[in-house]
Amino acid sequence: MQTRVLTGITTTGTPHLGNYVGAIRPAIAASRRAEVDAFFFMADYHALIKSDDPARIERSRLEIAATWLAAGLDPNKVTFYLQSDIPEIPELTWLLTCVTAKGLLNRAHAYKASVDKNNEAGEDADAGITAGLYMYPVLMAADILAFNAQHVPVGRDQIQHIEMARDIAQRFNHIYGRDFFVLPEALIEEQVATLPGLDGRKMSKSYDNTIPLFAGGSKQLRETIMRIVTDSRMPGEPKDPDSSALFTIFKAFASDTESAAFRRALEEGIGWGEAKQVLYERIEADVAPMRERYEDLIARPAAIEEILRDGARKARAVAGPKIAELRNAIGLRAMSALSTAGGHAKQASKAVKSPRFASFREADGSFRFRLFSAEGEELLLSKSFKDPKAAGAVQKKLKTLGGADAALLALPLSLVLEVEGEAVANSPDYADEASRDAAMHYLCQALDLLAAQENE
Ligand code: TRP
Repeated sequence: MQTRVLTGITTTGTPHLGNYVGAIRPAIAASRRAEVDAFFFMADYHALIKSDDPARIERSRLEIAATWLAAGLDPNKVTFYLQSDIPEIPELTWLLTCVTAKGLLNRAHAYKASVDKNNEAGEDADAGITAGLYMYPVLMAADILAFNAQHVPVGRDQIQHIEMARDIAQRFNHIYGRDFFVLPEALIEEQVATLPGLDGRKMSKSYDNTIPLFAGGSKQLRETIMRIVTDSRMPGEPKDPDSSALFTIFKAFASDTESAAFRRALEEGIGWGEAKQVLYERIEADVAPMRERYEDLIARPAAIEEILRDGARKARAVAGPKIAELRNAIGLRAMSALSTAGGHAKQASKAVKSPRFASFREADGSFRFRLFSAEGEELLLSKSFKDPKAAGAVQKKLKTLGGADAALLALPLSLVLEVEGEAVANSPDYADEASRDAAMHYLCQALDLLAAQENE
């Protein structure tokens, strides 16, 4: 069994060493594990909430995609895509918006912080706050729920958003009476180091104390490292490794043996300048080969684009059927599915031929059945039952179920029908998603028709 692990990267800014050590490197390492089915995407719709500078958004999307690929993300193993390439995400955002309590969004930390700031400044509470910022958690819930993600690796500042995604999912499940959504869990990497920046505080764009990962090349990397703040101890004086940002950053790249050697050198009085050179060389050893891949990729935006388009196709193969299932359940299915149900059922069922079951016996003596549409197309093949009564009971159940209550699971190219949590029948394999989605409509239509006839 694989676990679906999904995370989004907001595309503002240029990646720094803190992003690499704290997010990129551990996420890529996790994505390589056989039991992980990773979905990583660039949250460029979220980026619009933070920036209205088109050039910056565009540049950041490209840089961040190239960074993750250069850092070793394997697009054959990971589903890697742009949020804005997935129309199902904004579609789901609206469906979720309609079940989300406004009060829940009032409590979101980021929104509340902006309101508090306005109040302190004596401004109108909502001055300068967009509805985009307000809706941020719902868009994020859609990112996660559209793909049935089980685990969501995030920083601590995002835990509330994952909790909100669970809340919203539960509410939707409750209202529409079925477990449409997997409830996601935040995954907080406890051992991952947060890197100190140039001034010893957490490395962060907002403190302006970052060391760039690739930007400016090895020269910039070295120069920035030389600016890390140290104490005033002279060469020859012992240094305290544990209170030094230099040593903390070094440890994030080095093996235990290397770290022990560096610790000794500091304790034995290596000069800060020389120590910075050692740190630079250690980081450069890891970064140089990645930087080379990065430069190569960034020079070929079309190649990056192709990788992301491919990822979007894979992602939509999951989100598309999910949305089709939801539309069916909430009353937005094809109107043709409706025309024969309800008040006019009697008349209609006389006018059209009806779907039918055909039972048969396998060579091994077990019993199965097929369901055909009124037009004679095969819709479902049941699993095999030892007992013909069990097969009959399932058929009976399907006759009264109706399309809206059918628990239909969409696989990439086929459908599975569940009754009481157990898979009882499969559709044939379809050529593509669109045919499968169409088949889902037909199947629901057929079940509605059967139910309408049963009620006559
Ligand atoms: N809000 C996240 C952040 O700023 C980025 C993000 C957007 C995300 N959608 C997501 C993370 C879905 C996890 C899952 O870090």
